[in-house]
This record gives sequence, C-alpha cells and structure tokens, in this order.
Amino acid sequence: MDNTDKNRTYALGFDVYGTLVDPLALAEPLAALVGEHAIPFAALWRTKQLEFSFRRGLMRRYVDFDVCTRQALLYTQQALRCALPESDQARLLNAYLRLPVFSEVVASLAALKQQGHRLMAFSNGVEASIRALLANAGVLPHLEDVVSVDDLRTFKPDPAVYAYLAQRTGRAAGDTWLISSNAWDVIGAKAAGLRAVWVKRQPDFVFDPWDIEPDVIVSQLDELPTRFAARLRAN
Ligand code: LAC
Repeated sequence: MDNTDKNRTYALGFDVYGTLVDPLALAEPLAALVGEHAIPFAALWRTKQLEFSFRRGLMRRYVDFDVCTRQALLYTQQALRCALPESDQARLLNAYLRLPVFSEVVASLAALKQQGHRLMAFSNGVEASIRALLANAGVLPHLEDVVSVDDLRTFKPDPAVYAYLAQRTGRAAGDTWLISSNAWDVIGAKAAGLRAVWVKRQPDFVFDPWDIEPDVIVSQLDELPTRFAARLRAN
C-alpha cells in the first residue's frame, strides 16, 4: 500500500465481546440451568469478568482472560446461590467460544474491507480463544489479524495495549481506530492517542462522563462505511 492509499484508509481494531459477539446471549443456555436467574447471571458474570481483569492489571497479577472468565463464573454461582455441577460449568465455558455474532457484523466488515481499511480483532481474550470464537461466528475470514493483550500480559485499558494495537497495525496512533461498544475501552483508546468509535448498541447505554469523548458514535457497525468515507473525504 503506498502513501496515497494510506491517506485514504484507516487501521481498525475491533473489540470482540459486546462489539462483534454478544456475551449476554449466554442467558439462553443459562435459562435451562438457573431458570429465572439467567439474565442477572449472564450480566453479573460479564461484570465480574471485567472487574477481575481490571484488578489483575492494577495489581500486576496477570492471569489470562480465560481464567478471569472461569473465576467470574465461580463467583457468580456463589453470589446468586446457583451452584452448578462441573459438567454444566464446562458447557457454559464452551458456550463462551460459540457466542452469537451481532447480525450486521459480517456484512459491515466486508464493506469496510472493500473500502481498503485494515481490519483486526483487538481483545482482552487469549488469541487462541478469540480465533476459535470468531471462526465459529464466521467473522475470522473478514479480519486480517487478531491482536491480543495477552502478548503484553496486561489488560485494557492499560495504555500499553492500545499502543501495541497501533504498533501491530503499522499505522500512526492517529490513524488507528478502536471500535468498541464498551465506553471504558473507548476512553482507554482515546487517552492513549488513538481514535475511537463508540458502538452504542442500546439507546440506554451511558457513556462515562470523563470529559473524553468518542470521535464517532454509531448504533451498529453498518453505519461505519459511510461515516469513515465522509471523514476521509473531509480531510
Ligand atoms: C474484549 C472485551 C473486554 O477486549 O470486550 O474483547
């Protein structure tokens, strides 16, 4: 790609959980196991998984994201008094590798690739798990690479992991975009000098009032090809 092309495209790092695939869809397999607790169970499991990763990062006691997910599952069972046999725990952890893709994702990635942008997954997840998950979801063939924080043994929103994304894309931080539905992830990327899109998948999602704003807000990824084309035309 020569400099002219570089001026007309971006490097895009897509957050995975909540942005490309839906971790809260675990409420469905959970319904058969914990009944009415399924929705709060899925939500608390996700919240605790993230909290554990944040704390691990701050404490510099790294374990990989699969361990955070498993320990958060143990916590959630105890907190909601829904003890599950080991076979069901294993089934749920396996379901984490088969999360459903949001409906517009594949066509949107294809359109962005067609525009010449470099597309990568960028996740807290372990690379092997993310590759398996995205292959099962039919997303992997649309991505050039998978960038995992596991290479640095720390987690988002450590500024080092966003710098690492820019380094892996080979583009300047200002031409590297994080695309994420997680407001804290968007704030992390912006604070590290990247550009960021917030995918506000639900009207009631709230962006943290930190005086750090996303460059672009969309409700779904299918709005991105037009938004990026307009931005590049304006430059
Ligand atoms: C990810 C989680 C944090 O990095 O959403 O994919």
